[in-house]
Amino acid sequence: MNFKFPKDFLFGAASSAVQIEAGVGEGGKGADVLDYYWTLYPEKYGQADPSKAADFYHKYPEDIKMMKELGLKAFRFSISWSRIYPNGMEDGPCQAGIDYYSDMIDKLIEADIVPFFDLWHCDMPAWVMEKGGVLSPDFGDWFAEYAKTCFTAFGGRVQYWSTVNEPNVNVMAAYAWGITAPFEKDIARSVLACHNMVLAHFKAVKVFRELNIPGKIGFVNHVQLAYGLTLSEEDQAAAERNMGFYSNWFNDAMLLGHYPESVVHYPYLADHLPENYQKELDDNFIACDFFGINYYSSSVVKYEKNDILDYKIYTDYLPKDDYGFTVNPQGIYDTIMYVQNRYPGIELAITENGISKARTGNYEEELDDDYRVSYLREHLRGVARAIEAGSPVVGYFHWTLMDTNELYVNGYSHLFGLLQVRFDKPTLDRVPRKSWYYYQQIIAKGEVN
Ligand code: NOJ
Repeated sequence: MNFKFPKDFLFGAASSAVQIEAGVGEGGKGADVLDYYWTLYPEKYGQADPSKAADFYHKYPEDIKMMKELGLKAFRFSISWSRIYPNGMEDGPCQAGIDYYSDMIDKLIEADIVPFFDLWHCDMPAWVMEKGGVLSPDFGDWFAEYAKTCFTAFGGRVQYWSTVNEPNVNVMAAYAWGITAPFEKDIARSVLACHNMVLAHFKAVKVFRELNIPGKIGFVNHVQLAYGLTLSEEDQAAAERNMGFYSNWFNDAMLLGHYPESVVHYPYLADHLPENYQKELDDNFIACDFFGINYYSSSVVKYEKNDILDYKIYTDYLPKDDYGFTVNPQGIYDTIMYVQNRYPGIELAITENGISKARTGNYEEELDDDYRVSYLREHLRGVARAIEAGSPVVGYFHWTLMDTNELYVNGYSHLFGLLQVRFDKPTLDRVPRKSWYYYQQIIAKGEVN
């Protein structure tokens, strides 16, 4: 059976500045956290040398031509804050950084590709981190000022703005799991950092509304759907707590103005929030226009009494990709339905979805990505079914356009790209994989079978 997508559906691909730009230090760029901490703590960041990425910084004009050949209707990318404010807010914005993104946006528009831009995708400037990062009392004001500069420079041309990408993963990685700078494992500080991030999002949305910028604003988050192991009340509530702790923590705050009831009163979290947290949410809450879902995987959750939130997560029920993500195409449909029911009326997009393959180094063989072809097909069918069932999903962005620096300790060891990047050649050639041609056909026909 063929599933037809709506005529104006945004078939897209996504990537991010910190993962494909390189151009470290060029065009006046200041160090971002990866540039800076990679040199200080190479052992913590493994092979993730940012200067070795795909050089989108210089190659974006050719890459946009390839996007056009692919038939992309939209491209999701991020602005690197450290290209716009290299050394601090007090020096004012860097014109070369503004010009770089401005030209990229113009070229996308000339190619009839809708620009969808994130303000923050895992790459705050090193100076922000050195001054306290998300925990600094000034963080929200810096972020809002940076957002204002971007809205003023690119507003009207960028149709979709996302304030933050995967705040759950990024804040937790930095403050709770200790795997990115500042490498902390401190639950109290991670809860505060999450709260500050929510307030920073509100501040940026407020600026967007005040400036009356055309286009839409929202945020992107990682949603890992949790199914209860059984239909028992205990397992169902445990699954809900897992969703509450992991993803809905941000989603509820940003879309509903309060933290999820299922977890906020657990001592583990409640103890660490500022006393007046609800007042701060009430005073700053401002609605946004869309919610971007990064869907990769799902999990199964069972009630189990323990020190934290009384659940245990199982991921062994499903096949996994080489990154460790469970592969569950039904989950993309279930996730859209879950989100739609929880936040009725908000426009939705699948802002990331993709599958990893561990690098073997055999570039020829790595072009045959049949697993990605079937992954793409199955997940697009899930999206199409959700749209048929009435879900307001306006776009799908495959992760990712080309092979990236996968961040954290993974570096270049995981391949997610529709385009292979020949990292073994100084020219960093882009070579289409099978999945590229498959996606090209889907976009041309506007349907998936
Ligand atoms: C989500 C992140 O936004 C992106 O940066 C990352 O590469 C993918 N997940 C795959 O892990």
